[in-house]
Amino acid sequence: MIQSVGIDAKVEQAVGSRYTLAAQEPAPGLCCPTEYDPVLLAIIPPAVLQRDYGCGNPTKYLREGETVLDLGCGAGKICFLAAQVVGRKGFVIGVDMNDQMLAIARESAPLVAEQLGYANVSFRKGRIQDLALDLELLDAWLTEHPVSSSADLVGLEAAVERLRSERPLVESGSVDVVISNCVLNLVAPAERTRLFREIVRVLRPGGRAVISDIVASSDVPEAWREDPELWSGCISGAWREDLFVQEFQQAGMYGTTIVERPVAPWRIIDGIEFRSVTVVAYKPASQQCCTAGNYEVMYRGPFCSVVDEDGHVLPRGKRVAVCRRTYEQFGREPYRAHVELIPPPSPPSDGESPPAPSNMGPRRRDQASWNRGSEAEIPAATPATCPGPSGKCCG
Ligand SMILES: C[S@@+](CC[C@H](N)C(=O)[O-])C[C@H]1O[C@@H](n2cnc3c(N)ncnc32)[C@H](O)[C@@H]1O
Repeated sequence: MIQSVGIDAKVEQAVGSRYTLAAQEPAPGLCCPTEYDPVLLAIIPPAVLQRDYGCGNPTKYLREGETVLDLGCGAGKICFLAAQVVGRKGFVIGVDMNDQMLAIARESAPLVAEQLGYANVSFRKGRIQDLALDLELLDAWLTEHPVSSSADLVGLEAAVERLRSERPLVESGSVDVVISNCVLNLVAPAERTRLFREIVRVLRPGGRAVISDIVASSDVPEAWREDPELWSGCISGAWREDLFVQEFQQAGMYGTTIVERPVAPWRIIDGIEFRSVTVVAYKPASQQCCTAGNYEVMYRGPFCSVVDEDGHVLPRGKRVAVCRRTYEQFGREPYRAHVELIPPPSPPSDGESPPAPSNMGPRRRDQASWNRGSEAEIPAATPATCPGPSGKCCG
């Protein structure tokens, strides 16, 4: 993660004033142009479309019926696209900290709903690195309790904590998919660990994040990081591209995949390429490791072997023993197309008992060798101890 101190407050102020201006007057040069489905755009009011400050289209990766949270929704374009993809059984929440952007989005919502024949979008005021705190509730509290002394400050801090726990802006585990379009890079460096923690908190187990954002081909020079204007213009805050994907893993997500990365950069400044990427990453469905054993998987290829976030090594074409949690995880996106699932053997027909289930049993005779009476054993993907020394599943 980028390390920097002192700039953080300036970053938020610069982002605030830049997007207030961009809400008042469309700024076509902000962020890189993206193509959207014209059929889906047709029902979105011009005031919203003119304030398109995105760099990708995460709504392509949504499914019908899903509950979606859009971080930094701006005037709402991505939310209104998502509303059509998830349909009347789905729901979309847009969060932004900018009053002017939210005003345009909220004015437009009934117009979109009228065209669609259903209303499934809500816009909320908050900071995306603090998705528990409803800033409109806080604004209302501050109107009644102005802060003018240190004693007032203590009262404010208590009120903030109460709002977070009793009336959270976004509940824990309430969202199927967190999406965002060209916003994460605008969050100040010191807030980024918290930002990813919040993404994981609001996702339901097994949910996913689909994030389009600007990344850089190498480290952005330190001097640029001191410039609030370059921050608000999506340059200074751009992650180095390898560090961006690492953030998801460090936050405890798995299966992180770059699903879009155009060859042509959006900008090249001093030899550094800036481009938009779209990344998908998954929250584990279960934290519990090794609920039952005798599960095996086989990696199909084309690479000689692969390693997942938990350190399981899967050589191509070879059976490896895994715990049930890992087995089930390999049975879901994004792994299922690449991994063959081999369930525990059913009892042999000659009445002889199959091997007893073990806790992530690293050694089992496969059904074929059992039938042959062979002593062939299946290697474990990882050591048998679970969780292992790394603290990760089976690792
Ligand atoms: C580049 S615009 C992108 C808007 C929108 N996603 C789109 O595709 O047009 C950035 C938006 O994120 C909002 N934003 C930036 N940092 C934020 C933060 N920390 N919390 C909430 N909103 C933020 C800004 O107010 C602005 O509306």
